[in-house]
Amino acid sequence: MTQTEAFHGSKIVILDFGSQYTQVIARRIRECQVYSQILPFDTKAAEIAKAGARGVILSGGPASVYGKRAPHSDPALFELGVPVLGICYGVQLMAHQLGGKVEHSERREYGASELRADAGCDLFRGLPDKFDVWNSHADKLTKLPNGFRSVGKTDNSDFAAIEQPEKRLYGLQFHPEVAHTPRGKEILQNFLYHICGCKTDWTMGSFIDQTCEEIRRQAGEDHVVLGLSGGVDSSVAAALLHKAIGDQLTCIFVNNGLLRAREADTVRKVFGENFHMKLKYVEASARFLKRLKGVRDPERKRKIIGAEFVKVFEKAARELRKKGKTRFRYLAQGTLYPDVIESVSISGNPSALIKSHHNVGGLPKRMKFKLIEPLRQLFKDEVRQVGSQLGLPHEIVFRQPFPGPGLAVRILGEVTPGRLRILRDADEIVLSEMKASEWYYRVWQSFAVLLPVRSVGVMGDERTYENTIALRVVESQDGMTADWVRLPYDVLARIASRVINEVKGVNRVCYDVSSKPPSTIEWE
Ligand code: XMP
Repeated sequence: MTQTEAFHGSKIVILDFGSQYTQVIARRIRECQVYSQILPFDTKAAEIAKAGARGVILSGGPASVYGKRAPHSDPALFELGVPVLGICYGVQLMAHQLGGKVEHSERREYGASELRADAGCDLFRGLPDKFDVWNSHADKLTKLPNGFRSVGKTDNSDFAAIEQPEKRLYGLQFHPEVAHTPRGKEILQNFLYHICGCKTDWTMGSFIDQTCEEIRRQAGEDHVVLGLSGGVDSSVAAALLHKAIGDQLTCIFVNNGLLRAREADTVRKVFGENFHMKLKYVEASARFLKRLKGVRDPERKRKIIGAEFVKVFEKAARELRKKGKTRFRYLAQGTLYPDVIESVSISGNPSALIKSHHNVGGLPKRMKFKLIEPLRQLFKDEVRQVGSQLGLPHEIVFRQPFPGPGLAVRILGEVTPGRLRILRDADEIVLSEMKASEWYYRVWQSFAVLLPVRSVGVMGDERTYENTIALRVVESQDGMTADWVRLPYDVLARIASRVINEVKGVNRVCYDVSSKPPSTIEWE
């Protein structure tokens, strides 16, 4: 479902030239309660007009406007009559396409500088005449196109900000979207509210209302099935669909035996008992464990779990159909916006990277369902806001990510019931101590890993020869890169001591101090 078109409100289109900050621009705009949509750099002007954009932003990017394969925008864009703001590569491109001059510079300008801003420019309304801005560019604008004037200078550039007010074309050589430009948000707000005339109508309340209407319209009398994992995305998708179509939604929750302690109970309680959703609970632990017997290779584990999940899910959907004569026409998924942005394949664009091994839990196309993806417009923080507004408990809405293949990728080597028990017990202690110390919600992930090594220890008067638990606590923005968290020693000490004393079969705890890259967050 492309609800992108369905949002009735002010909209800004961001053309993506491959900057690592494109998504940051989109999020900043949404924080200003204006809907933003990222489109490929070569989107036709007519299409942008048809999408009803009130303004267009040209993102930065790694290319040089003179480069052989430099991405260009449709020149008709500057004749649409819609305000355009070019940022970094975006302003260079705008100037280049309109007859100005950009020169290659060997010296990269990187970091903070002071902008002397012209208060007469609408972008700088309400701002002081000098403030800090953050730069990251090599090429430099040296001659303005006809009709443009400079409205901001730095020591390094006479054209750090430019405008053509009649045509409402603006450009900034620096990055207003990053936190290092402290007044950047106000510049963006000036562009949105004063130049483009946008209203602040992108709120999660309006999203919920509009999306519910859209889901009702799309589903009609038909039934929808959703694979509920208990993670943030599928949980919020379930709550939203339930609000929209009530009993026309059935959730299938598969217990694959690789879940954390009490996870299955929590999901049943929250969704079955509190929300009164139609929830089919499938106990498939034995089946998964049987298939995983003797398997040590991480990729094979993931493949087996993925394939088994599809079979179990299909069988459950078939049984529901037979029993209740419910034919599911739609499959709902909690896909988010970062997964659907059509990334441009310009080198250096991290959003173009594909997490190939993260597709476990996905359902194959042959299942012949039509898709409903009610969250595909949203960033993660927006999904959390929607979840809270729909009344999901804090524990679910703000929980850390948990991989589809579950504890299996945190048990190095073979997955056995005994090893699952050890890891589950250790994981529960890690979780409770992280929560008690108030670190849980401050980090990206915190979990235990069971290593396939045993070492010697001493407990009381006895020599032990037991397992080792590795503790992994990382901070990250999106899971693509991560750093280990400098947890206070007393928190580390408490976790280690409790795991060794309370979990039978463990006599050693190590802390993982590797960052990603080159390590990954999960150990398998
Ligand atoms: P890695 O280990 O690649 O993990 O650094 C990055 C993030 O992705 C999560 N992850 C998964 N999530 N299915 C998921 O839904 C998976 O198969 C999967 N594998 C890893 C991981 O927990 C981390 O947040």
